[in-house]
Amino acid sequence: MKSMKKTRSSAPGKLMLFGEHAVVYGHPCIVTAVDQRINAEVELIGGDEVEVIAPSIKFSVAINKIDILQAPKEVKFVLAAVRIFAKKHGINKGLKITTISAFASSFGFGSSSAVTVAVIHGLHELFEIKVTKKELFEMCYQAVLDVQGVGSGFDLAAAIWGGTLLFVTGGKKIEPLAIENLPISVIFTGVKADTVTLVKQVSELRDRHPKIVDGIFKQIGAVVLSAQVALANSDWNQLSELMNINQGLLESLGVSTPLIHRVSDEAKEVGATGIKLSGAGGGDCLVALGELKGQRKFDVLEIGLQAAGVRSEKYE
Ligand code: PMV
Repeated sequence: MKSMKKTRSSAPGKLMLFGEHAVVYGHPCIVTAVDQRINAEVELIGGDEVEVIAPSIKFSVAINKIDILQAPKEVKFVLAAVRIFAKKHGINKGLKITTISAFASSFGFGSSSAVTVAVIHGLHELFEIKVTKKELFEMCYQAVLDVQGVGSGFDLAAAIWGGTLLFVTGGKKIEPLAIENLPISVIFTGVKADTVTLVKQVSELRDRHPKIVDGIFKQIGAVVLSAQVALANSDWNQLSELMNINQGLLESLGVSTPLIHRVSDEAKEVGATGIKLSGAGGGDCLVALGELKGQRKFDVLEIGLQAAGVRSEKYE
């Protein structure tokens, strides 16, 4: 169908630095945006169909008949984003949405959250509707909850605000942190983690041992607040210790794995002073401090941290 108008928005992925899991229960976490972006082109077309063109699939559905449960998993977040926007602004026009990712979803950089943010941002640009960061967050958070039912929304905040943030679940607190330098290495374990399963696993552990698990969450919250100070002071010794403590607490929640242990030991052998898993656990990436020298048995990803939040891109 003939294109009438088009916009392009891009949003960054994220890396959790401190506080995963405890953040779901009201404690703060620290997250940074990575310079790996997802682009969403949003186009007005005739009729009332939403056509989604994702890297691995094409899918279309009438805008007022979007059914997230029935939709293929590759397009669920895009459709949830369209549905939220359409409902809020009473729009039922035909749309074509093309998503282009700079990174593989296997790294755990938050491709679903970045795509949700890029689509809702692009739709606002397309219909020339002003939106604040907080309003954008609320809409995106609802879209993510519609698809996966759980999550703190930290990844959405990173995709919207960019930089490095102190974040509390549901966006109760979103505080940009002024950090000059973040000499953190990102190590890929080679295994994709399943966030929703791990969040449920921790919730079941908490059901069985509520006092103990809440105590661990509280300690993780304290680590996060100390890490905030250490980051502001560029105190890498302190931060290394806090990373190792945070990793120990995550291990006690049962979300670390023999693979994460092995890669952490290998990184320590070549110079890592502090290392922890990043995100839900089970795999994905590790974050490490200290200069990694010599031969490495693991993959270090060359990515920039503290990337810019969602923005409009020029459309050629
Ligand atoms: O697996 P990731 O990178 O999406 O991180 C999940 C972090 C949790 O705290 C476990 C869940 C959440 O939504 O905050």
